Amino acid sequence: MADAFKAVKVSDHAWWVGAIDWAVRDFHGYETNRGSTYNAYLVKSADKIVLMDTVKKPFFREMLSRISSVADPKDIDFIVSNHSEMDHSGCLPETIEAVKPDKVYASVMGQKALEEHFHLDGAITAVKDGSTLSLGDMNLTFIETRMIHWPDSMMTYLDKDQLLFSQDGFGMHLATNERFADQLPQDVLDYETAKYYANILLPFSPLIAKAIEKIKASGLKIGIIAPDHGPIWRKDPLRIVGKYAGWTQMKPTNKTVIAYDTMWGSTDMMARAIGEGAGSEGGDVKLLPLRGTHRSEVATQILDAGALIIGSPTINNQMFPTVADALTYVRGLKRMNMVGGAFGSYGWSGEAVKQIEDILMSMKVELVQEGLKAKYVPNDEDLKACRAFGEAVAGKLKGLR
Ligand code: FEO
Repeated sequence: MADAFKAVKVSDHAWWVGAIDWAVRDFHGYETNRGSTYNAYLVKSADKIVLMDTVKKPFFREMLSRISSVADPKDIDFIVSNHSEMDHSGCLPETIEAVKPDKVYASVMGQKALEEHFHLDGAITAVKDGSTLSLGDMNLTFIETRMIHWPDSMMTYLDKDQLLFSQDGFGMHLATNERFADQLPQDVLDYETAKYYANILLPFSPLIAKAIEKIKASGLKIGIIAPDHGPIWRKDPLRIVGKYAGWTQMKPTNKTVIAYDTMWGSTDMMARAIGEGAGSEGGDVKLLPLRGTHRSEVATQILDAGALIIGSPTINNQMFPTVADALTYVRGLKRMNMVGGAFGSYGWSGEAVKQIEDILMSMKVELVQEGLKAKYVPNDEDLKACRAFGEAVAGKLKGLR
């Protein structure tokens, strides 16, 4: 394995030495259907060699092979852990054992988290927010960015190359042989960055807005953004920062997301009639049948939505399990500023609609009207009411914009 994997040059003094996970399809509940990468980087100054993050545990040998293509791993002086989640720290103990670095640096919270994960017994040195580590002819500056993605998260700036190592921030789950965003189709980048933000970072939007302001206020010139997942941004790197700034605002748009499941086609019929109404003002409508749509796609679609409408039949006095799954997941993502409502068919009790409304209200979704129910199979009047429900949502969205 020693010569199988090579480093990729990122800038004058930095190399990508991470791993490509072509097979991963789940990242704690997020469907990663294009795989992922765990990006580690090597920085070489005239005097020092620094490893920036590590990789998920099973990929230790791949990382070591890439490092070995540009440096003897034993010559690494320092390891910087920007984020303690195990996709970036999983092989940290093995790496420390192999490299025997002089120091392993992490944020104050990172030191605590790494100790608690790996019981490293004092091996981690905490660095303060804004502090600088001299590598002789260049410097690394540490910038705490709490909750992008965990409390321990920090970014590290290499001044000589104007390079920001941004750990989870500005990343995406995308396995490719290309290492740079400008080598990849724009539609893939746009979708995967949005999906990543929606599923990983959305709940922390207020803190992310502050972190972006903090980075801007620092006056650091950013020429390259090197995240811990997916491609590196070397052309117009501030474009993705602007996208993040927009997403943190969670502004309502004219898009309505209708997520639902069905038992015998009745709730599906209601969903389609509501969708017709919701599109009547020219708005964007996305119907997501949950039997074939993963919860992480619902999250992605609500990132830039204005309305969320949820439908479920009632089964044994409960909403359908697929609907409960999606709702539980998106509730945790804390998407604000949406209107919406609930609907569903039923046979004899019909509790699901009320259960959905309760969850939507707990998410601070403004209910446009009382939920719609149709007994067994919706008749013409029921479907007319469904269309009117959709129209009411469209009208509400028009008023909000
Ligand atoms: Fe890529 Fe929060 O770990």
